[in-house]
Order: sequence, then C-alpha cells, then structure tokens
Amino acid sequence: MKRRDFIQKSAGFAAGTMFTGLGTSKLFGLTNSSASGTIAAIETVTLNNGVKMPILGFGTLYLNDDLGVQCVSEAISLGYRLIDTAKVYENEEAVGAGIKKSGINREELFVTSKIWVDDYGYESGKKAFQTALDKLDMDYLDLYLLHRPRGDIKGAWQALEDLYEEGKIKVIGVSNFEDKDLDELMTYAKITPAVNQIETHAFFQQEKANKSLKKRGIQMEAWSPLAQGRNEHFTNEVLAEIGKKYNKSNAQISLRWHYQRGIVTIPRTSKKEHMMENLNIFDFVLDKSDMKKIDPLDLNITQFPEWE
Ligand SMILES: NC(=O)c1ccc[n+]([C@@H]2O[C@H](COP(=O)([O-])OP(=O)(O)OC[C@H]3O[C@@H](n4cnc5c(N)ncnc54)[C@H](OP(=O)(O)O)[C@@H]3O)[C@@H](O)[C@H]2O)c1
Repeated sequence: MKRRDFIQKSAGFAAGTMFTGLGTSKLFGLTNSSASGTIAAIETVTLNNGVKMPILGFGTLYLNDDLGVQCVSEAISLGYRLIDTAKVYENEEAVGAGIKKSGINREELFVTSKIWVDDYGYESGKKAFQTALDKLDMDYLDLYLLHRPRGDIKGAWQALEDLYEEGKIKVIGVSNFEDKDLDELMTYAKITPAVNQIETHAFFQQEKANKSLKKRGIQMEAWSPLAQGRNEHFTNEVLAEIGKKYNKSNAQISLRWHYQRGIVTIPRTSKKEHMMENLNIFDFVLDKSDMKKIDPLDLNITQFPEWE
C-alpha cells in the first residue's frame, strides 16, 4: 500500500476528521512524526461551527515557568500545533512565552485555555478571559472552556457566547461536563459547546460519553490520555503485548487507540523523546481485535478522585 493511501485509510478511523494533506503545509503544519523521517500532517477534526482542531495536541499541566517555556517551544518545533493550558495551571504566561520563543505564527496554532470556577459569572467571566489573553500575550483564543460544572455556569457561558460573537474566541466549549450538565446548559445556551474535554484513558474509557457527545455534535477531547502513568500504564501487559506487534510503546498504543475512536488527545511530557514518540502514531493501524483487547482494561471510574 502506498504511504498516501495508507494514511488516508487510517484517517477514516477518526469519524468526522479531515485529512489536511500530505507534503503541503496546510492549517496546522507538518510533523516529522516517524523514526524513518517521513512526514505526515496532524489531522484535524471539524467542529460543529466549521473550525478545524488538530486531533493530537500538547498538554501543559505542571509545566510551569522556564520548564513550561522550554517544553512548549520544543513541542511546537517538533510539530505540535494544539497547546492546552488553563488558569489553574498557573502557566499561561509561560505558555505564551514558549509560543513566542518557537517563532511560529500565531495563526498556525490552536491555543486552548480554561476559565476556573472562581471566575464564573458574566462580568467576572469576561474579565477572566481578558486576564488569560493578557497572560498569554494574545488577542484571541482558539478554544476557551468552562473548566468544571460548578457555580454560576449560566453567567460564565453567556460571557463566552458574547466573546465568541465578538470574534475573540474561535470556539467555545466545556470540560468535565456529564450528560446532565450538558442538558442543563442547553436549556439556556444559544450556542452548543463544540468540545467537551473529559478524563479519558484505557482505565476510564468513557464510551457512553463518546456516543452521547457524538449524538450532540460535540467533539470529545481526552484529558490525561496516558492516565498520568497511573495503574502502571507504561508497563501494562495488555498494551505492551499489542505494542510488540506494531513495534510501539504503551503510550503510542494508547494514543492511537484514542485516535481511532475519533477522540482528540493532549498528552503532556517534559521530555523531547516522549514528545516525538507521542507524535509518532500515524504510521500504523490497530486492527479490530487489538482495539477490543483494550476494552477489559476499563475500570469505568475516575482515576483522579482527588480532583472530583
Ligand atoms: N480539563 C481538565 O480538568 C484537565 C485535567 C487534567 C489534565 N488536563 C489537560 O490534559 C493534559 C494531559 O493530561 P496529564 O498531564 O494529566 O497526563 P498525561 O498526559 O496522561 O500523562 C503525563 C505523564 O505521562 C508521562 N509521559 C508522557 N509521554 C510519555 C511516553 N511516551 N512514555 C512514558 N511516559 C510518558 C509524562 O512524563 P514525562 O514528562 O517524563 O514524559 C507525565 O508524567 C494536561 O497536561 C492538561 O493540559 C485537563
């Protein structure tokens, strides 16, 4: 099979995704994503308002100060185009500085931040957004999320809707929302969220949410797609056994598994070799039986109870 055919075939696994093209620098640039040096673009998903979002990005939790600047800049230089931050990570300034350091044009990136619950409300929500922009040193955000479903969600959502209408945010969405929270939001929302970022990994697979979000036209995005290494993710025998067949690591098997389910992932790492490894998931396809082997790892419960 020719490489182009192969990649286009594998692209079909991500329902609703758009292939951005091979060999040409389209929306989110090119990625040197394989050990052999072949080039593949990071695919995008098309969101419910037509905006395209890379299906794989870079998480920045715990990457603060100089480490944050360095990691963000390095990740971008390796080909990551989606960068995920939040007010509570206390690293919006470092993320902004890392982006500047990378030298890439702002328009080539997809930058996400999140409003924290303490700032919910209409006026306070607008103020919090401006503070985020100031810290990032940007004049718009690609995606702004309500971080958790608590407090004056209605006021905060209406602030996001107005900022969206003003063109200051390209896409608005939520995080950690369950079906009941989305039902409540939709009783007053003028705009349906485009993204729901929720905990998703091999040990909390969230298939029910995946189906429900698809029905609602909301893109699912996985946080902690590697479970932060909990439950011995990186030495898990089921993932390792599958990995042997494709010559891939546990992290790569997990990320590929999310990708084939059509879920956006944002793995975080402070190591260049892991940044490269996590990008290198587009040159193989997990067959149906291997996808199935991951099902029984599901514990169907959060692995981060301390954040509930
Ligand atoms: N919306 C929310 O409520 C929420 C909550 C949590 C996280 N998030 C977002 O989701 C992002 C990802 O989640 P996360 O940071 O919690 O955890 P994660 O991405 O699941 O795991 C990060 C851990 O995996 C290790 N790692 C990464 N790649 C690896 C590889 N190829 N091989 C071995 N180890 C590897 C990293 O260590 P090394 O540095 O040593 O590579 C780090 O300890 C966050 O950074 C944040 O942006 C959002």
